[in-house]
Amino acid sequence: MSKRTEEILKSMSLKVKIYHLEQITTATYLTKWSTYEIITGPNSKVKLDKDMIFDVGTSLNLVGAETMIDALSNYLNKSKFKRPPVFMQDVIHGHRTLYPINLAVAASFDRDLAKELAAMAAKEASLDGVSVTFAPMVDLVRDPRWGRVMESSGEDPYLNSEMAKATVEGYQGDMGKYNLAACVKHFAAYGAAEAGRDYNTVDMSERTLREYYLPAYKAAVDAGVKMLMAAFNIVDGVPCVGNKHLMKDILRDEWGFDGVVISDYGAVQEMVVHGAAEDKKEAALRAIEAECDIEMMSSCYAEHLATLIEEGKVTEEQIDKSVLRILDLKESLGILDKPYRSVNVEESKAVQLSPEHREKARRGAEQSAVLLKNESILPFSKDVSSVALIGPLASTGKIHGSWHCGGRAEETISVYEGLTNLLGDKVKYAQGCPIEYYAEDTSLFDEAIELAKNSECVVLCLGEHQDYSGEANCRADIELPEIQYKLLDKILEVNKNVAVALFTGRPLAITRLDKTAPAILNMWMPGTEGGNACANLLFGNAVPSGKITMSFPRALGQCPIYYNHYTTGRPKLDKDDFNRVLFTSSYIDVPNSPLYPFGYGLSYTTFEYSDLKLSADTMTKDGKIVASAKIKNTGNFRGKEAVQLYIRDVKGSCVRPVKELKGFEKIELDIGEEKTVSFEITEPMLRFWTQKLEHVSEKGEFEVFIGKDSTCAPFAKFDLV
Ligand code: NOJ
Repeated sequence: MSKRTEEILKSMSLKVKIYHLEQITTATYLTKWSTYEIITGPNSKVKLDKDMIFDVGTSLNLVGAETMIDALSNYLNKSKFKRPPVFMQDVIHGHRTLYPINLAVAASFDRDLAKELAAMAAKEASLDGVSVTFAPMVDLVRDPRWGRVMESSGEDPYLNSEMAKATVEGYQGDMGKYNLAACVKHFAAYGAAEAGRDYNTVDMSERTLREYYLPAYKAAVDAGVKMLMAAFNIVDGVPCVGNKHLMKDILRDEWGFDGVVISDYGAVQEMVVHGAAEDKKEAALRAIEAECDIEMMSSCYAEHLATLIEEGKVTEEQIDKSVLRILDLKESLGILDKPYRSVNVEESKAVQLSPEHREKARRGAEQSAVLLKNESILPFSKDVSSVALIGPLASTGKIHGSWHCGGRAEETISVYEGLTNLLGDKVKYAQGCPIEYYAEDTSLFDEAIELAKNSECVVLCLGEHQDYSGEANCRADIELPEIQYKLLDKILEVNKNVAVALFTGRPLAITRLDKTAPAILNMWMPGTEGGNACANLLFGNAVPSGKITMSFPRALGQCPIYYNHYTTGRPKLDKDDFNRVLFTSSYIDVPNSPLYPFGYGLSYTTFEYSDLKLSADTMTKDGKIVASAKIKNTGNFRGKEAVQLYIRDVKGSCVRPVKELKGFEKIELDIGEEKTVSFEITEPMLRFWTQKLEHVSEKGEFEVFIGKDSTCAPFAKFDLV
């Protein structure tokens, strides 16, 4: 806190302070609304005094420099307190120029890329008047049914932490003109919703919470994130926003976070629906006691905090603490002096969707795509005489992904446009079938089959609608729709030269596709430049290097599925995963292994790993050892490889995962080139949470793995002494 913010605090009445803790929609402040409309329209569920609307401290979700200027000038005109609000926004994977969904960016295994893309989004959003982004979302995810896996970086705590750090750094930079304050979310463990159903119950031991789920939020805090959002879900029976153990004991006291905490949308009031508060008053009490500073889109604070103070249940000092945090945020954003901060109509027009930003988004999509299968089909030659482009996702801009902020489908390059940009009129298109998961209409088949028959190669764009992932978009069936399989089969009857470009916001259960399609390039939801990136990858202008960070199951029944699981007392150790071994932990009908494991992804070139070495076979607690490997590009393309280090703690006082990612490095190698990649292993990397909730390492044996994905075998052991 600064002298200045303390002075400002002193000038605020209790009511102004309390209203500073509320958050409503930014659209509220547009000049087009009368006060009556504001109360009955966008904020009908939020019961605020109409004469205080223009003294609410922060607001959310409005896009466009002109509209933001209108909202801000109107606010400042009508505000009695005359302090600018903070405009916040869900800038999730880009602002106007969208880059691939976050699950895709993680697949790049490239920290610099994640940082660069976040910085690009921050620049566009800040020029539009946004000051805070509700990102990064770092919830660890294991269940692809959950629609929000697209926002996450996957199933691994280390990778999630690295991506969290890179993204926070990208958004916040040095908190200059083109930066945003970041808000890490959703604290905590929102990604563990039972059965992959959004907003559902989360229940786990504190050990699991700390071991797997908390590290990425902590990494964001350590990286200096300015804000944190409390999740909708319960943890240990208590909604996060009122969960003192999480929010105070862990976040504030243990981690020392003194930034602003905000509730998720309506989550304070939802404590009543949860049955965790009798009424809005008790909800306000629980949330403020848990040090939730801002209440998003409900009004328990505005309605009840003053009474709670009168009754002696809450002190004014508690309110002051929260208000000060918000004022400090305003100060660090510079808006106390420059309310309009960076908003600039002309500059935003010049920067948004500029060739430079489109190029970054395209590169992002190329680095994030994952080649899942390739029977020597890809890359297609650019000298091809004719290309049949088929599929429900082939000629639509709706591949930019959910949470599209200011991005628009009509500004997104479809695959059809991308291929035509590259190959001109050699490309012919037929839709083939509808996109809806329930579609049965095969009337478009004939045209597509005819086109495939008369073309040299086929690009088949399959997958799921972009609105089938994202918030509240969960699926109980994560297969491709039957109609898409039927179409593929028919096309294969007339042309075997088929590559599937897959568009999806989640891992799908595509065992059948893997059996039949000669090549599968997973494009995820690739953002504004998706079509150009897809064309470049399919025709060899770019070489795939992404590796999945969330396991693709063989069947939905395997979910939740993740590589870093514990072993059991009866593991199925048979090398042939398809053999049935009775009385082991396994299924009758599918192997235990996923279809595609964590860290997996092919390239057009091949990489050979050799000379795997460990510098010593013992390590002291304050020592270090180095694991290294030589990686050689043995194929015919220059390419990138994500080299992965895993460690297994063979025996512990608590059972340890079968392996854990502890390092990765993305390298680029020319044809025939070889590089040595080294990873330093130190004692803190070996720590885990014990039953007594101590974070310690234990002496004993550790196995070390370096390889191209999470199925790699150990090559050495060492003892921690
Ligand atoms: C609800 C979502 O859970 C959260 O991620 C988002 O930031 C808020 N709505 C605001 O839009």
